[in-house]
Amino acid sequence: MLDKNIVWHNHQVSKEDRSNIKEQRACVLWFTGLSGSGKSTIANAVESKLLELEKHTYLLDGDNIRMGLNKGLSFSETDRVENIRRIGEVSKLFVDAGVIVLTAFISPFVKDREQVRSLLNVGEFLEVFIDTPLEVCESRDPKGLYQKARTGEIPNFTGISSPYEAPANPEIRLKTNEMSVEEAASKVLSYLKVNGYLK
Ligand code: ADX
Repeated sequence: MLDKNIVWHNHQVSKEDRSNIKEQRACVLWFTGLSGSGKSTIANAVESKLLELEKHTYLLDGDNIRMGLNKGLSFSETDRVENIRRIGEVSKLFVDAGVIVLTAFISPFVKDREQVRSLLNVGEFLEVFIDTPLEVCESRDPKGLYQKARTGEIPNFTGISSPYEAPANPEIRLKTNEMSVEEAASKVLSYLKVNGYLK
C-alpha cells in the first residue's frame, strides 16, 4: 500500500548521466535456469570479461543474497516470489546507478520474471536462459542437492518436486551442454556489443 505522506523525489543527476560517465548502457542480465545449470559460473565469466573492458558491474547471486538481504526466506512458492521481487527492486536501483547488473537466481516462475521486466524500461531487462537439461544438472549435482531432493530430504526442489517454467523468448539462450563456459560468456558479450550496451 502506498503511503500518501511519502513523496517521490526526482534527483538532479539522472540515470543517463550515471550510465554515460561509465561509458555503458545500464541493464540487468537476468540469468535463469535450474540449480546446477551454470548460472553463477557463466555470470562470473561474463562479469570478468566486462571488468577487462573496464565496465561497471555488480553480480547478485542466489545463495549469497539468501544469506543476507533475503535471509529467512524459504523455498515455498510465496517466499520464492518475494525473493525475486526484492532482487528485482535491488536490480532496478543498480540500473538507476548506471551499473550493468548480473543476477543468478533460479527464478522458476514466468510471472515473477515478467514482473521484474515490467519494473524496468524497454531494453533494460535481458533474460539469459541457461538451457541445461535436468538430467545434466542432476548428473553434475555440484552441491549434492539433487540427491537429497530425490530422497525427499529437501522438499520443493526445483525440477524435482517444484516446477521450473522455462522462458519462451529469452533475449539470450545458452545451451551449456553444447558450448564451453568461455563460448557462453562470449555470446553474452557479443549481444551487449551488438546492441549498444558497451559504448
Ligand atoms: S529461487 O527459486 O528463489 O530463484 P534461488 O536462486 O534464490 O532460488 O536459490 C537457489 C539455490 O538454493 C540453489 O542453487 C540451491 O543451492 C539452493 N536450494 C536449497 N533448497 C532449494 C530448493 N528447494 N529448490 C531449489 N534450490 C534450493
